Amino acid sequence: MGNPLNFDDQQKYIEIIRHWNEEKQKETGTPVYYHTRTYGCQQNVSDGEKIGGMLTEMGYLPVSRPEDADLVIYNTCAIRENAEERVFGNVGALKHAKRRNPDMLVGLCGCMMQQQHIADKIRKSYPYVDLVFGTHALARLPELLYRQKTEGVRVFETSDAKGDIVEGLPLQRDGNIKAWLPIMYGCDNYCTYCVVPFVRGRERSRKPEHILAEARDLVARGYKEITLLGQNVNSYGKNLAQPISFAGLLEQICEIQGDFRIRFMTSHPKDCTRELIDTIARNDKICNHIHLPVQSGSDRILSAMNRKYTTAAYLELIEYAKETIPEVSFTSDIIVGFPGETEEDFDRTLELVRKVKYHSLFTFLFSKRQGTKAAEMEDLTPDEVKTARFNRLLAAQQELGAERYGELVGKAVRVLAEGPGKGGEDMLTGRTESNVIVNFRAPADRIGEFVTVKITQAMNWAVLGDVITL
Ligand code: 5AD
Ligand code: SF4
Repeated sequence: MGNPLNFDDQQKYIEIIRHWNEEKQKETGTPVYYHTRTYGCQQNVSDGEKIGGMLTEMGYLPVSRPEDADLVIYNTCAIRENAEERVFGNVGALKHAKRRNPDMLVGLCGCMMQQQHIADKIRKSYPYVDLVFGTHALARLPELLYRQKTEGVRVFETSDAKGDIVEGLPLQRDGNIKAWLPIMYGCDNYCTYCVVPFVRGRERSRKPEHILAEARDLVARGYKEITLLGQNVNSYGKNLAQPISFAGLLEQICEIQGDFRIRFMTSHPKDCTRELIDTIARNDKICNHIHLPVQSGSDRILSAMNRKYTTAAYLELIEYAKETIPEVSFTSDIIVGFPGETEEDFDRTLELVRKVKYHSLFTFLFSKRQGTKAAEMEDLTPDEVKTARFNRLLAAQQELGAERYGELVGKAVRVLAEGPGKGGEDMLTGRTESNVIVNFRAPADRIGEFVTVKITQAMNWAVLGDVITL
């Protein structure tokens, strides 16, 4: 059984399951509930919206506690060991819920399940898990659920079948102000520490017409922010029959009429071009924030990571963006304690962080991932040394971030009001174009609008301000 190229294949299963759920509801007088939980990155969140969409079409209603659900699905993440441990802990907790309600179905999907050793562990040690499917089988959820229900067996679908793009999946979006829009799937880069290419498959781009249609629909439905998603958005379009660059795609999305803004993640420095930076500078709709993961400030470590750029090339790009995009902001991912990282290598990272002056950083301790090249590398640095480096990096960034936030005080900035904020009943929260969180006093009916806020105070992770009524 291969992947369907077309979601239409799944409609028959959706209809049958919806019919079963309607019958059950008539019998019991209560709706049939699902509970999903997504771990990990935005790509996974986006997949979670598809799971919610398919379950809604099948007649399930969402419920917030897993123990109240007829069907529980955990959408898992494999990027680091602690992400996996959290999933195992939460799956373990479902054992009791299932004992109380033996009719409850438990499903696991996402990146962890695309790894054979994890699927084997679930098969052996978690007998109450009924359904396991990897990232490549996501769009076949209706069929797999149907198989489980009709055959009454545990269903495992974790084959590495090449993951074609399936368009037309229903979506249950998380909100109505900001939306995730995947433009590509998979990754071909094989950074030596990273499990993503193994669990999400080869890089493949959606066709521009599908992306544009979805973006137009979002704008028409009043969404104010669209974040384009991909593991490496800068290589978007390379393998399409009619190749198009990421900058070219952005230009086309900017042509959509309406008051909305565009973000994107993640950019790989090796493919980030001046053309892209010029495109950001030219278009008001594109936010002046670039998430550009550097991972390390040492060329020796970057080479061992297979990142394919040098710190000099990275800094050159940053300088060009600073010159070209007014008030540009940068954020980054950094791994501390990669195998063989010396004190000197780490000092280079601190140096780079100080040069770039990031607004914020996502910092991670290196985590060994089975099947990756880095898992085979000699790693002699003691954990305490890695942790000490990690804390030094955090402290340095806290100081630098505070400077960036301090620079905003006294300025008037455009903020998308996203929802209720902390610090009082009439407080709202939102983000600047540069991705800084702003808490401000304003009536709740401004939620979903762009407002101008004068910044009055900088905090550690956010700034405070007042709406300027024009
Ligand atoms: N260990 C630690 N951090 C990792 N990342 C990816 N793989 C690992 C790993 N094995 C980090 C990288 C990446 C981010 C999403 O997660 O910094 O950019
Ligand atoms: Fe992992 Fe590197 Fe691909 Fe990012 S670019 S998903 S870090 S392999």
